[in-house]
Amino acid sequence: MDLFEYQARDMFEKHGVPVLAGAIATTPEQARAAAEKIGAGSGGVTVVKAQVKVGGRGKAGGVKVTKSPDEAEQAAKAILGMDIKGHTVGTVMIAEGARIAEEYYFSILLDRSNRSYLSMCSKEGGVEIEQLAVERPEALARIAIDPNTGVDDAKAKEIADAAGFDDADKPALIEAFKALWTVYRDEDATLVEVNPLVKTEDGKIIALDGKVTLDANADFRHADHEALEDTAAADPLEAAAKAKGLNYVKLDGSVGIIGNGAGLVMSTLDVVAYAGEDLRGSADGFVAKPANFLDIGGGASAEVMANGLHIILGDEQVKSVFVNVFGGITSCDAVATGIVGALDALGDEATKPLVVRLDGNNVEEGRRILAERAHPLVTIEATMDGAARRAAELAAAAS
Ligand SMILES: Nc1ncnc2c1ncn2[C@@H]1O[C@H](COP(=O)(O)OP(=O)(O)OP(=O)(O)O)[C@@H](O)[C@H]1O
Ligand SMILES: [Mg+2]
Repeated sequence: MDLFEYQARDMFEKHGVPVLAGAIATTPEQARAAAEKIGAGSGGVTVVKAQVKVGGRGKAGGVKVTKSPDEAEQAAKAILGMDIKGHTVGTVMIAEGARIAEEYYFSILLDRSNRSYLSMCSKEGGVEIEQLAVERPEALARIAIDPNTGVDDAKAKEIADAAGFDDADKPALIEAFKALWTVYRDEDATLVEVNPLVKTEDGKIIALDGKVTLDANADFRHADHEALEDTAAADPLEAAAKAKGLNYVKLDGSVGIIGNGAGLVMSTLDVVAYAGEDLRGSADGFVAKPANFLDIGGGASAEVMANGLHIILGDEQVKSVFVNVFGGITSCDAVATGIVGALDALGDEATKPLVVRLDGNNVEEGRRILAERAHPLVTIEATMDGAARRAAELAAAAS
């Protein structure tokens, strides 16, 4: 999960990274009130900054220095609602104005190819860092970080040396690097980036901008991270699925997919995609594709099945549904009972054809249960390829 700048700022503050005062606003009036408070410490100067999860805000006109609450209100009026690379600005941050002497760049990220962490740092930070990395890579120091020792005094000094900082600036920089490492480690981040990290005219080192990406795999040990989620921007189907504890990802096609086990669901997506391509000719060029990923896990109870079907049938793009279940610990008869129970629970809401492929433990009994119920929307197929083809045909026919 990527954080907004203001969330990164708060997180930095919590871990002792030097930041400036900041407050968020969703209306020009709120921006004015915030500027009155925050500008008091900086001669009335505040910076109004668009809060969008995309780079290049400054260049797009989303960062404005203002000299009075009046100006801050006007800037907020201009920035709120602005479109920055497809992201509509709904919130601005009013930040205390800094008197900048120099702008630097610092980041820590996951270096997958080296199975390690990497720190990047440059004396020449600011908005053109991407260009710098391409044109003069030597101006961007890259230092590997051993996850076991992290950024201690020695590592922080190594980074500061490699980036070529003046000795006088190093002590404050070293403290900032160590604090940023604490953010990275203690919050389970995969990216902490500060651009710019600035030296002010009075020699202080301050993080003026922050990008943080958190590792969702570590969510279980950070109860406080859930509150950071941008629920307004989430896909409504994904949000509904999440609320039900379902492992669901919305995709762009017309064949809804339900399976048990991530591996089986992944291969189900593949066979449906192949079947869709294969049928292209006979379907007037229509290509059936998977509409989602949904892994209902081991205990495919009627309730979980009903929840899953409810989400998938709520997707307007879905024309047919492929239920692909391998009976293991949960046997096929239990799954079949789940499907029947789910269809009964959904009643009139179940309007799209379902192709069911069951295999594994107690498959005969599972198929018997489905056959006996003889639900008009349900087709039983014996093989995964056959079921994928049938689901793709039904989607094509309905499109
Ligand atoms: N609080 C501040 N006081 C003074 N100047 C600031 C402040 N915040 C930002 N600036 C100036 O605005 C520039 C751009 O700000 P910032 O880095 O936050 O946005 P950005 O780099 O354009 O956005 P992104 O990092 O998303 O691409 C900074 O390089 C700095 O010169
Ligand atoms: Mg920036």
